Amino acid sequence: MASGSGTNLQALIDAATPNVDIVGVIADRVGVGALQRAESATIPTRVIRWTGHDGRDSFTTAICDAVDEFAAEGLVLAGFMRILGPEAIRRFPQRILNIHPSLLPAFPGAHAIANALAYGARLTGVTVHFVDEEVDHGPIIAQRAVPILPDDDERSLHTRIQEEEHVLYPQVVEEFASGRLDVVGRMVRRR
Ligand code: GRF
Repeated sequence: MASGSGTNLQALIDAATPNVDIVGVIADRVGVGALQRAESATIPTRVIRWTGHDGRDSFTTAICDAVDEFAAEGLVLAGFMRILGPEAIRRFPQRILNIHPSLLPAFPGAHAIANALAYGARLTGVTVHFVDEEVDHGPIIAQRAVPILPDDDERSLHTRIQEEEHVLYPQVVEEFASGRLDVVGRMVRRR
């Protein structure tokens, strides 16, 4: 599921790991790079517009129904900029993954990179986690650190963060798809 340029989707497509079959791409808006990347890879797409629904609950129901139509076993959020309602977590418990451009729990939210720079942090990074009912909060599956350099701006830092994302996310999605991740409380254990 994506809202933007879809470079993480592209990394997942290109990784072509053995147990991952990308059965569909859902976007919340038309004309985004992620949809073009999916179409180029002949992956079916669906657009479920936020504006077409009268609130988070009906938007979430539409997303969950689309996931069922795709017969997907998991949901991978890759730059999906909408918050899903509780129904998604009920219907797909521990089956929704997200990638976030900071070392959670530091700098949650939509401006993680700008906030890390503004805070004067020396180290930030990437977190892949299971999605729960709170934003950028669920059990952490994997993290990679990225140093913040003295001359960094949002763009240069995002570029280096994305280099890590494009390696890490395909690895984690493969682990998930292979059934190697167990959630015990807040801890994710590997088989
Ligand atoms: C990524 O940097 C991810 O951390 C954040 O949104 C961005 C999506 O980028 N959640 P892309 O659309 O995959 O290029």
